[in-house]
Amino acid sequence: MEATATSNPNTSNCPRIVVGLSRGQEKPNVSSVTAEARELGYDFVILPITFPSYRRFLFEQLIGSVDVNEKKIMEEWRKGHPFCREDLVVKNADVSDFMVGQVSNWINLDSPDHSIRINSEVIMRQQLSWLGHIGISAALLPFPSDSLMNYARCVNSIFGTVPYVNMWIKIPLILEDEILGLKETVTWERWNKFRTLCENHVKLSIALEVTQNLPEDNILDRWFAEPLKAVILPTTIFLSNAKGFPVLSKRHQTFVRKLIKYKPNFIIDCVADGPNHASGGLAAYQEYIHYLNRTMPELTQVEQFALGYHDFLQSPLQPLMDNLESSTYEVFEKDSTKYALYEKAIHHALLDHTNGSEEMILEAAEKAQKLVRVYAIEKNPSAFVTYVRYKDHLFVLITQELRFNIILNIRKFSLQNKKAEVWGDKVTIVFSDMRFWKAPEKADILVSELLGSFGDNELSPECLDGAQKFLKSGGISIPTSYTAFISPISSSKLYNEVAAYKDLAHFETPYVVMFQSASELAKPCQVWRFEHPNSNISVDEDGNPINNFHNTRYSKVTFNIRESGILHGIAGYFESILYKDIILSIHPDTHSVDMFSWFPIFFPLRVSFFFAK
Ligand SMILES: C[S@@+](CC[C@H](N)C(=O)[O-])C[C@H]1O[C@@H](n2cnc3c(N)ncnc32)[C@H](O)[C@@H]1O
Repeated sequence: MEATATSNPNTSNCPRIVVGLSRGQEKPNVSSVTAEARELGYDFVILPITFPSYRRFLFEQLIGSVDVNEKKIMEEWRKGHPFCREDLVVKNADVSDFMVGQVSNWINLDSPDHSIRINSEVIMRQQLSWLGHIGISAALLPFPSDSLMNYARCVNSIFGTVPYVNMWIKIPLILEDEILGLKETVTWERWNKFRTLCENHVKLSIALEVTQNLPEDNILDRWFAEPLKAVILPTTIFLSNAKGFPVLSKRHQTFVRKLIKYKPNFIIDCVADGPNHASGGLAAYQEYIHYLNRTMPELTQVEQFALGYHDFLQSPLQPLMDNLESSTYEVFEKDSTKYALYEKAIHHALLDHTNGSEEMILEAAEKAQKLVRVYAIEKNPSAFVTYVRYKDHLFVLITQELRFNIILNIRKFSLQNKKAEVWGDKVTIVFSDMRFWKAPEKADILVSELLGSFGDNELSPECLDGAQKFLKSGGISIPTSYTAFISPISSSKLYNEVAAYKDLAHFETPYVVMFQSASELAKPCQVWRFEHPNSNISVDEDGNPINNFHNTRYSKVTFNIRESGILHGIAGYFESILYKDIILSIHPDTHSVDMFSWFPIFFPLRVSFFFAK
């Protein structure tokens, strides 16, 4: 049982999306642009940091400046001369909370010309430090060219000088080239090279520009594993509806709706000076994005539960070693799917065990109360005593219908209170570790729920190996088996979060996590299975396993990756046969509908690997 955190870390049931406006003007008037954007319903604007006149500092050699004075001015400027007021678009901090600064896209940090390269670096440093000075939290940086080494080096060296400025690198989905045709993957690979050179710095993220043509779905999916902070929607990618308002094509809508879940900052990028569509003016673009957000498909039960847990790394529970808290049990009890599956499994096991029909069972129901003996075993002293509300999930069925001795590891809070109030003599509650309990009689059915996200990682095999000595020969264990699966995962976000601890211990820890900013490089493969009861265990005279070697597992699997990508870790899932065809699963392809008790497990890799397709 793994999905639980006692308090939801960052829940927001009604996520508000943020939409900004980029007018693309080279010489904007800050007060009128910001006032207009506010009036049109935008949340921020993109503004250039300097006027185009500032470009004069780029080319001093090219214009053949041999004038000694001018050379001196240039050298002074390079040394760190302050901006002239006239060069700055935004001259003070008045609109800092309403803007993102755009680094000039005419700089060329990888120019073969030495002075252009040097001047470009000076300009970028100046611009970013001005943003830092006036308290602007994000800068939009130009798309890197193919030779991007120096650009990446400069950005990497600037992070520390402007600690509060986040760098959004503009990356188009597709590089469209009329001569060469579409070059879909090149942009991801360029980004990958850039961020690798920047050592995956946490301040570095993507402003993904959605293009008119969209690549295939698996290429689109790769971007969800990346740190997406902004999504640029040029006005030219919008179609016109019958009334002339801007709308997106079905495929663009689907992609944007997926993006909305990641809550990026959307940027409407005006390609023309005004709107590109006949109706609605510039406001229509942000209204349309808000409309897409409002009309997102309703969340499933699992999605509802997962709100706020996305990409949140939790330590797996250790219910054997630790005693769980009441709030954790409360979360368990919300998942009616899990209990329904257990109920069904027990029901079928009982039908089979009586070798009879349902009528026979029902006939026996009258007598059942006398015939059934149920033992509920719990080793957590507080769960054994505490009173918490009870939902009659499992016991109704058992006590009404059955005449078997069933030993249950069913916590069902408030065991003592429940016995007094509901169960009476139908259930014997036992405070013990099941491995060491001396049962007064042998059981026909042993029910347990000790599963972790990876199947055995909460030590279910070890507990059940100890408990199976009080199961009759031919008796049934529910679950009958559990199988673990793994898949290779790319997620720079999760990787960075683990890396931020700056120690080995955090890399060598598995986490329970509801993946969002992650993409699966290949489908999950099976690694191993545990079955109960296990007749292949060597036991001592008390029926206890002599050692635990039978529970070690080894497996080697080969994955065929779908697209080139970076492997940041391994995702783990389980599928459990509770009884015959009653399956409880968190495997992505067979996930039990509406069940949210377990999130996948994540094993981070200390060193990430690039895999080319
Ligand atoms: C994951 S919880 C499941 C609780 C309950 N069966 C349910 O589904 O709501 C596992 C429970 O088993 C108990 N437990 C774990 N190992 C045990 C052991 N060796 N003996 C007895 N109880 C154990 C834990 O204290 C915990 O209450």
